[in-house]
Amino acid sequence: MMEKATKSALIVGATGLVGKELVDIVLNEPNYHSVTILTRKLLPLTHPKLEQIITDFDQLDQYQQHLQVDDVYCCLGTTIKTAGSQDAFRKVDLTYPLELAVLTKSLGAQKFLIITAMGADPDSKVFYSRVKGEIEVELKDLGFSALHIFRPSLLLGERQEFRLGERIGVILSPVLSFLMVGSLKKYKPIHAKVVAMAMYQASLLPKSGSFTYESDEIYRLSTESNS
Ligand SMILES: NC(=O)c1ccc[n+]([C@@H]2O[C@H](COP(=O)([O-])OP(=O)(O)OC[C@H]3O[C@@H](n4cnc5c(N)ncnc54)[C@H](OP(=O)(O)O)[C@@H]3O)[C@@H](O)[C@H]2O)c1
Repeated sequence: MMEKATKSALIVGATGLVGKELVDIVLNEPNYHSVTILTRKLLPLTHPKLEQIITDFDQLDQYQQHLQVDDVYCCLGTTIKTAGSQDAFRKVDLTYPLELAVLTKSLGAQKFLIITAMGADPDSKVFYSRVKGEIEVELKDLGFSALHIFRPSLLLGERQEFRLGERIGVILSPVLSFLMVGSLKKYKPIHAKVVAMAMYQASLLPKSGSFTYESDEIYRLSTESNS
């Protein structure tokens, strides 16, 4: 079904591996008349639909005039190493997304789309997976018309920052992908562009409720044509 350019989108994490791909997709697809991104640094990009807002994420409530949108895409994330501590990690992967969700919901947003991670579980013994699980639970309580949660496995794509674990995964990726068939498909590394396309496709689905996609479902969704 073809949607007209009647909706507005907000993207956070737009400078990241998935976020950059998503910006590229939503600017070039027809159904949004405006795309706002909240960032710490500007993307070297201009487009008639695009508004970039340099943001202090500790003061998100100061940006309410930019938070009145239909669809919210959250691609924020960090690593404990980059953030410097578990608390700092939690702020980026839980506090900011939750504040964003509460604010945008109160201002009328209908759809919230967020990347967590494979293994997200609020009861996990692994801190990273636990935080990812906690944000999922918190978001489900907010009552968005539609909440889409994406749980990718290892992300593939051109990253400037060096992350040893990810590099090893990327090198092993062709072997891993060959081995991971059937029920193991959700462990297959997945390209950031595929995740971004699946997020966009999910935004077009005319259904309400909470939906969670593992990597194999993300692949499937990315190839669906809902536009
Ligand atoms: N990497 C993987 O293999 C993997 C696997 C599964 C799930 N995930 C999850 O998928 C999501 C997207 O991952 P990605 O690899 O695309 O992320 P990324 O490339 O690391 O980008 C993260 C984004 O979050 C922003 N950000 C980080 N710290 C911030 C802070 N303190 N304040 C404001 N913004 C901040 C970054 O902005 P700046 O550019 O300003 O730093 C960037 O836009 C994340 O939630 C991640 O946990 C990743």
